[in-house]
Amino acid sequence: ITTNLFFLSSKMFSAVEISTPSEVVAVNGTDVKLSCTFKSTHPVSDQSLIVKWNYRPPNSQSETSVLYFQESSHPPNEGLFKNRVAWSGSAAKRDASITLLHVSPTFNGTYTCQVTNRPDFQGRGGEIVLKVVQKAIVSEIGMLAAAVGGSCAVILVILGIIMGVKFYKKRQEDMDIEEHSMGKTDLY
Ligand SMILES: *[C@@H]1O[C@H](CO)[C@@H](O)[C@H](O)[C@H]1NC(C)=O
Ligand SMILES: *[C@@H]1O[C@H](CO)[C@@H](O)[C@H](O)[C@H]1NC(C)=O
Repeated sequence: ITTNLFFLSSKMFSAVEISTPSEVVAVNGTDVKLSCTFKSTHPVSDQSLIVKWNYRPPNSQSETSVLYFQESSHPPNEGLFKNRVAWSGSAAKRDASITLLHVSPTFNGTYTCQVTNRPDFQGRGGEIVLKVVQKAIVSEIGMLAAAVGGSCAVILVILGIIMGVKFYKKRQEDMDIEEHSMGKTDLY
């Protein structure tokens, strides 16, 4: 009977599965979405869903709450994330994402997303490492494209100058020949 009960219960409840990116790079002063989506074997509603977002500064084990969702969004009333976080999730879309507002380099660190959807229980949490940088990082492909485009432009300009000089020289030569022949005609 105990074994049957175990199988029965393991069928009825299972852990919520979470997906997050492992790293997000954001530019200082911008809003950045921390994406967290999940799978649950049970229907999801605002009433069944509980989401906990926590923050750990770099090289630290201390966790602080970023946002708590239960029936509705409960952003913090104090601390680093006061007025700096918004709920971007949707129970219907199995989305527990948040958006950090006007991020600054002090937001660097690890953000964890934990989801419970009753009667499914909380599984392994998702972890996102956020890096706030001063400027947009130009991708290597972008830099390569700029380098290739730039050298093409330089080559075209040089070709243009060479052609122009040649054309000018040829015109000068033609004019010299014309003058020369004109001079010849004068002689006769
Ligand atoms: C980040 O940007 C703000 C303006 O949005 C600026 O005042 C601040 O100095 C910047 N932080 C750093 C570390 O440069
Ligand atoms: C935040 O992370 C960025 C990228 O790793 C780094 O350049 C910057 O110095 C860090 N700032 C702080 C305050 O930790």
